[in-house]
Amino acid sequence: MTLQFERHRRLRQTANMRALVRETQLSVNDFIYPLFIVEGSGVRNEVSSMPGVYQLSLDQLKLELDEIVALGLKSVILFGVPNEKDAVGTGAYHNHGIVQQATRFIKEHQPDLLVIADTCLCEYTDHGHCGVVQGGSVLNDPSLELLAKTAVSQAEAGADIIAPSNMMDGFVAAIRQGLDAAGYTEVPIMSYAVKYASSYYGPFRDAADSTPQFGDRKTYQMDPANRREAIREARSDIEQGADFLIVKPALSYLDIIRDVRNEFEAPIVAYNVSGEYSMVKAAALNGWVDEKSIVLETLTSMKRAGADLIMTYHAKDAARWLSEQ
Ligand code: PBG
Ligand code: ZN
Repeated sequence: MTLQFERHRRLRQTANMRALVRETQLSVNDFIYPLFIVEGSGVRNEVSSMPGVYQLSLDQLKLELDEIVALGLKSVILFGVPNEKDAVGTGAYHNHGIVQQATRFIKEHQPDLLVIADTCLCEYTDHGHCGVVQGGSVLNDPSLELLAKTAVSQAEAGADIIAPSNMMDGFVAAIRQGLDAAGYTEVPIMSYAVKYASSYYGPFRDAADSTPQFGDRKTYQMDPANRREAIREARSDIEQGADFLIVKPALSYLDIIRDVRNEFEAPIVAYNVSGEYSMVKAAALNGWVDEKSIVLETLTSMKRAGADLIMTYHAKDAARWLSEQ
């Protein structure tokens, strides 16, 4: 009896043969690198739960930018950590807010580097929520005005892309209208369209000092158990004018990235969030996993799932590793 079967191993025999049939390629163009900017000078604070990630003051930013550009990275996303917070997050839309200052600084020193401004209030409010709070709840419509104001002031400072993350309904419509009315019709919106209420954000809240002071974000961020809802959220944002769709987190939500990829034509961004980063870093520092290969495998899986771009704290390392290969 002759056995009938396929010889899949034919295409795996050598490194070059495997490269010939590889379906997914990572490139330095895929990565968006997050930066945490603080006030003051001389600050280069390593975030204790995120080894290798620093809060930087503006004077420390120059060297960082030179490194980022030298590695071939094309874009950064900015998070501001202000000294002063208040009930309505004034620092988010102040002309001299920390993100506005950092944007101007980047446009002066590295004008080609794309600046993506994260547009939210949680780093600027004393209660740590992403919108206006009244009687213990986060109000939708009053938050929209403040978000639009924030986006316009970020565009005024020179931001190339606006990335609203606060998960209020109608936020893309409000920001698009605000930008257009101020003359910024060509500034794209990269919407955190599909954003889950995730425990993987823990280390980020250390880095951005944005932990909610009461309750949680479950009335505005999505339930991790929901899949169809992701399509509804993404559709709303596309209809309101979003140019990019972000899915966040990434690693536990690869099915969602695939669903969104199959349904929409817009560029899709996977946010490889802080907790995903910290878990890998902790295991690598203990010698339990090989950092380089596990990071490149993880990032590849996000592209394979359907992401065009990846926001990741591993961006500098990954860029270096790819250039060495
Ligand atoms: C909030 C915001 C969060 C992140 C970025 N902006 C999450 C949150 O605190 O709810 C998380 C990013 C990460 O974990 O890396 N607007
Ligand atoms: Zn927020």
